[in-house]
Amino acid sequence: MNLVFELFSRVALLGVAQAGGNAFYMPPQASTSAQNVDRIFDFILWVSIFFFVLIVVLMVLFIVKYRMRDPNAEGPRIYHNTPLEITWTAIPLGLVVVIFWLGFKGYMDLAVPPANAYQIQVTGQQWKWLFTYPNGYVDEILHVPSDRPVELLMTSSDVIHAMYIPAFRAKMDVMPGRYTKVWFSATEPGSYPLFCAEYCGSKHAAMITEVQVHPAGEFEPWLEGVANWIATMAPEAAGEKLYGMLGCQQCHSTSGAAGIGPTFAGLFGKERTFRDGGTRVADENYIRQSVLEPASQVVAGFEPVMPTFQGRIKDDGIAALIAYLKSLNPPQP
Ligand code: CUA
Repeated sequence: MNLVFELFSRVALLGVAQAGGNAFYMPPQASTSAQNVDRIFDFILWVSIFFFVLIVVLMVLFIVKYRMRDPNAEGPRIYHNTPLEITWTAIPLGLVVVIFWLGFKGYMDLAVPPANAYQIQVTGQQWKWLFTYPNGYVDEILHVPSDRPVELLMTSSDVIHAMYIPAFRAKMDVMPGRYTKVWFSATEPGSYPLFCAEYCGSKHAAMITEVQVHPAGEFEPWLEGVANWIATMAPEAAGEKLYGMLGCQQCHSTSGAAGIGPTFAGLFGKERTFRDGGTRVADENYIRQSVLEPASQVVAGFEPVMPTFQGRIKDDGIAALIAYLKSLNPPQP
């Protein structure tokens, strides 16, 4: 049953596989573990096909050979056949032991990352992926070096997701409130699909991004280059990107609709009333304080649930966010 299901999902994956290479049967093998995973899959598949054919053929033969000819005929009585019993116990047992051994060894290889693995943090959220690099850079596309083991340390900021890169044969649940790990070593530079493999809400199907495998020696220069990405963009555009990267959009709309937090539309320059009755105009300093110490000024009608972004955003990022918030105000008449 599992196998049938797996076959169907393989077929369903063909479309995705096409996007990552020209494989008809399987996605391209682009990691060091892909070959091993496929070998075990093929082994189980061919064992299943062999026994399926054997059983169906024997069944048809026996139906014909032992069909009822004379309703009163009495056949020979068969009590026991020890060699037959041993044979049909020993062969499946041997096969199951082999499958267990291959599967267990393969699982252990996939479960234990090498000690020198390069670590990237992954956050799943409805409905996108965020990848955080050791230097603090955050991207919505996963960039990895080739020919070097990469370990993903993953968590979710809302519901259960699952990180799946078919070309690497890497797949792992991403849970809220705890960390899960998966590792791989990419072998072929290029771009491969990465998507969510756990139903997580209405836009689950849109939770797709890609993995960019950089050729050896090109990953570090790339990472250094993007670390200063805010300086390379217009402030409003950089602010809008941060708004998505930091997950602001989960609570603060830009449409005017109230969410878990106040909307950002038309916020800048307006007077705010706080839960304790105090008021303040939403100027640059107000926004800075709201990002770094959100609990110090909670707007009336909302709960003090916003986390601080101290340490997650620097001055240039705050300036970009302020520019973005200003751009969300409707033009003055
Ligand atoms: Cu995230 Cu499905």
